[in-house]
Amino acid sequence: MRIYQEADYDAMSRRTAAIIAAEVIRKPDCVLGLATGSTPVGAYRQLAAWERGGLLSFGDVTTVNLDEYRGLGPDHEQSYRYFMRTNLFDQVDIRLERTHVPDGLAADPEAECRRYDALVESLGGTDLQLLGMGHNGHIGFNEPGPAFVRETHVVDLAKSTIEANARFFAHRDEVPRQAITMGIGTIMSAKRVLVAVSGADKAEAVRKAFCGPITPEMPASILQLHRDVVLVGDVAALSGLREAGVLQ
Ligand code: GLP
Repeated sequence: MRIYQEADYDAMSRRTAAIIAAEVIRKPDCVLGLATGSTPVGAYRQLAAWERGGLLSFGDVTTVNLDEYRGLGPDHEQSYRYFMRTNLFDQVDIRLERTHVPDGLAADPEAECRRYDALVESLGGTDLQLLGMGHNGHIGFNEPGPAFVRETHVVDLAKSTIEANARFFAHRDEVPRQAITMGIGTIMSAKRVLVAVSGADKAEAVRKAFCGPITPEMPASILQLHRDVVLVGDVAALSGLREAGVLQ
């Protein structure tokens, strides 16, 4: 695993964007696995600035997002499709028909999960999968549980996740209780995984994920088994790794 320790959120965002940009420049028709949450916002902003400046183009890029809330449509301000449009897709020259997010309104969610897995497979998997991390170690919306789930599936969100994400909604009661998420198998099939973390509140999860036992109770810990992981974090988020002696 390669670790980039950056001074603060802005530097972490630039580094994350640079790694994504490098992939897009190396392989203009790459498949990017994308993530939502507050962590990647700065990286998306940087990528949009570089695209406007002519450094790279998303014209041939395909994207697949990790997850979507169940019950929220593309025009709902808190849906992940809406998030991706405002933070990246509408800001760059990507073709919207090449961007994919699970359909949170699918009448048959199980069929939607199968469709999504078939789609990722038909694209040949992702070249680079960007991940954030929840405080409980969730990746995508793969919450801690008794077993890793391989495929795209419907998940009941953990209480702590509902609380963490309530800040984006007017009332806690409005936070959806379920989501559709790519499974651990699909995430692990990415050729390269890029994990972005920021803030002291993530330090414990980062330490457990990368220095603790590999267990579905800490979903991100499975990344220890991936052969090409790049971790980008600010000093605060990586403090647990320094305490564990993995970093200086
Ligand atoms: C959500 C998303 C995750 C994301 C996590 C952390 O739960 N489903 O993909 O990594 O939030 O979000 P943040 O970056 O805001 O801490």
